[in-house]
This record gives sequence, C-alpha cells and structure tokens, in this order.
Amino acid sequence: MCAYPVEPFRIKTVEPIRLITPEERQEALRRAGYNLFALRAEDVFIDLLTDSGTGSMSQEQWSRMMSGDESYAGARSYYRLAESMQAIFGFEFFVPTHQGRAAENILCTLLVKPGSHVPSNMHFDTTEGNIRARGGIPENLVIDEAYHPTSRHPFKGNMDVDKLRAFIRRVGPENIPFGSLTITNNAGGGQPVSLANIRAVSEVYREYGIPFFIDACRYAENAYLIKLREPGYANRTPLEIAREIFSLADGAWMSAKKDALVNIGGFLATRDAALYERISNELILREGFVTYGGLSGRDMDAMATGLWEGLDENYLAYRLAQTEYLYNQLHAAGIPTIEPAGGHAVYVDAGRMLPHIPHAEFPGQALSAALYLEGGVRAVEIGSVMFAHPDPETGEMRYPELELVRLAIPRRVYTQAHLDYVAATLAQLKDQAGKLCGYKITSAPALMRHFTAQFAPLEG
Ligand code: F0G
Repeated sequence: MCAYPVEPFRIKTVEPIRLITPEERQEALRRAGYNLFALRAEDVFIDLLTDSGTGSMSQEQWSRMMSGDESYAGARSYYRLAESMQAIFGFEFFVPTHQGRAAENILCTLLVKPGSHVPSNMHFDTTEGNIRARGGIPENLVIDEAYHPTSRHPFKGNMDVDKLRAFIRRVGPENIPFGSLTITNNAGGGQPVSLANIRAVSEVYREYGIPFFIDACRYAENAYLIKLREPGYANRTPLEIAREIFSLADGAWMSAKKDALVNIGGFLATRDAALYERISNELILREGFVTYGGLSGRDMDAMATGLWEGLDENYLAYRLAQTEYLYNQLHAAGIPTIEPAGGHAVYVDAGRMLPHIPHAEFPGQALSAALYLEGGVRAVEIGSVMFAHPDPETGEMRYPELELVRLAIPRRVYTQAHLDYVAATLAQLKDQAGKLCGYKITSAPALMRHFTAQFAPLEG
C-alpha cells in the first residue's frame, strides 16, 4: 500500500468547509433537480466535481497577481506568458484564451464544417460539443484496453494507430480538418499517452497532411507518467519530455485551469502563420485583443508562473502519489475503479458497482447522487448522461462503454484526512449498493446535457 505523500508545501490560507445534515443534503439535491452541477457549492463538503480551476495558487502566483499589467495591448504580463509558452511548448504563435473551450470554439469555428470528422484518442465533453456544434463528427480511436477497466496497460490513453489509418482511409483525409490527442485522456480514466504513441500518431497525421493539435490540459501529469513508465525517460525532466511531446504537433490548446495551476485561463497555439492570422481575427471578435484574449493581465501573470510550478518534479511526484493513495484506499475497500490510477482523478466503475442499473437509468448519476447524500461528497458522472447520443444515421441511442464516476482531485487543496473520508464514504455506499435506484431525465438540452439536465429518481 502506497503511503500518503508528504506535501511539498505548507498551508498559509484556509477556506472553511462544513458538512450539512443528511436532511439538508436531501433537500439541496431535490432542489437541484438531482443534478450535482446545480448544487450550491457551500452545500458540498468535499468537492471532487472537477480539478479544473479549483486548485490553490502559490505565494509566487499571488504576488504576480499584484504586479499584473492591465494594459489593453502589449501588457508586460502577456510577454511573461509568451516567454513561458515559448520555453515549454515552443510553438511559433499562440493566443491567450479565457479557458480551454474558448480555444476549442475558435479552432472548430475556423476548421470544422458540417460533415467534417475529427479523430482523437478520446475527446472530452466540451471538445465533442464544439465539434458537434459546427456540424462535425467527433471520433474516439483509443486502444481497446481503455475499455477494460481492470487492464493495467501503462498507457491506456494511447490511440490505436491501425484504427486511425483505417478511419482516415474510410472518411478521406480531405474530410478531416484536424486530428487530435487528449493528454491525459480525461474521458477514459485520466490515463496517459506514451511518447512512442504520440510520435506514431503524429507520423500518421503528417503522412496524410492532417494538422495535429494536442489537447494539452494535463500535459505535465502526462509527461511525469511518461518519466515513470516509459523506457528511456527515467532520467529526463518533465520539461524535456513536454518539449519532445509538443515538437511532434502542429499546434495545441490548453485549459490552463488544470496543469497551469490557475483558476482561469487557456491558450491556442499553432505553427501556421496563416491560421494564426485567422485565429487572431476570431479571438478579437469574441474573446479580446491578441495580447489578452479574455484574460486580465494578472491572470496571465499567474499562468506564466503556474506553468512552471505545474512542471516541478517535487510537485508532480506528490500530485500523482496523492491520486494513487485515493485509488489504493478504494481498492482496499473493494470499490471497482478504472485501473491503474489516473493522473488527476480516480474513476469509480459505477457500471460494475451497480450492475442492476442499466445504461438507460444512468448508474453513474445514481452513484454520484448517493455519494452526495451519504457524505456531502460531490463527484461527476462520466457515462451515459455525459456521452450517450443518438446515432446520426439510425437515431438509435448509442451508450458509452463505461459508466464512470470521477473523483477529480483539485491541485494542492485537500489533505490525507479528506481523502480518507471520501474512501470511507464510498465504502459505506458499497454495502447499500443493491438498494440504489436509477434515474430518469425529466428535461435536458440537445448538447452537453450533463451540465443542466434535471432528473428524477426511479423509486423501487
Ligand atoms: N479538454 C479537456 C481534456 C478537458 O478536461 C477540459 C475541461 C477541456 C478541454 C475544456 O477546458 O473547462 O477550461 O473550457 N475539463 C474540465 C473537467 C471541465 O472537469 O474535466 P475548459
């Protein structure tokens, strides 16, 4: 059993949290239409809904916030960010965006047409939503091991290169405006992609003249997992590994709310001057001028510093060991999860934990609602609420292979006792699993329904 890692920081500011009563939780969840996104955060005790924008900033980041330059154009903060960007990612051009999906929106607006296909190992929800919103069709081509929760393949985020070739030949490279890879693979258990696989995917995209963009939110965690698991990288720094990763791509976008350790921010980067010009025009129209892109100067300064802190080896060793600790606690309690531990989260296999609830009654939703009722813990469903959609040709509902509940760990926020509490709460739920009921959707929008759908429990 892996011991809890000693945090490479001490705590200087605290935010109180409290556990409301079971009756209050029942009432809060009912008022929220059983959608955990609709809860008031103050009614949550341990919030593992997301690791996005929920981390703690360092004293260096907070002091940079004070010296942020709020000039509309050419701010010092922008140039500091540009320096970090150049040193880590090495793309010729980039624009700041207010978060990852703003970058996705710009990229999809410019490149995706109705009927376009966009392959990836697995797209996350906002990427999928942005592709679909432009009439495009997202395609997930991850290796089969990703769908076997108990497979301990070290790089379950890898793309299946044979599937990619077959896919390109089937739909035609002219119908693929860009190809992607998500590192780490958030929709599939926070699993990393190996450098060998990134190189192989890059070669295939290049062979067919398809621009290759990396969805880079958790690139530092991915780089550290390469260091730990991929032969030949043990003596390389996360920075060196990151540089090698991005040297293989034509561009990238990032939600800086993850591995850049900020509460808001992102970027879109490319090597293509003509595309950069079109990106700039779109950015100015929707986000802001090219030297701030929807961020304040202080946000860019915090991001310029956070990018480096996110690559620090002491931090990454702690970060990944913390996730593994929670994973080990759950295993000791017999809770089925995706194996091995992911980078930023542990994914409970609700499909296996609640086998009596079919896809159409949302086992992940049932488990996450129960987790909140049991202990005030908020997680997110990554299953049929998030990813089921009607087949564009037959109209028949297509369900994802896995029904997951993600326990995402905010960066530098929770302690060992918090994670022990989460594991103990899940262990209690395991004993009542057979009694948990499914849910039906009572209202939902057409795209990205998990954020705002309303539910009702199916009693009995
Ligand atoms: N790509 C991936 C792989 C993500 O995980 C996210 C966000 C985005 C893109 C979009 O970035 O939120 O800054 O607009 N994921 C969060 C999550 C929301 O909870 O996993 P954003």
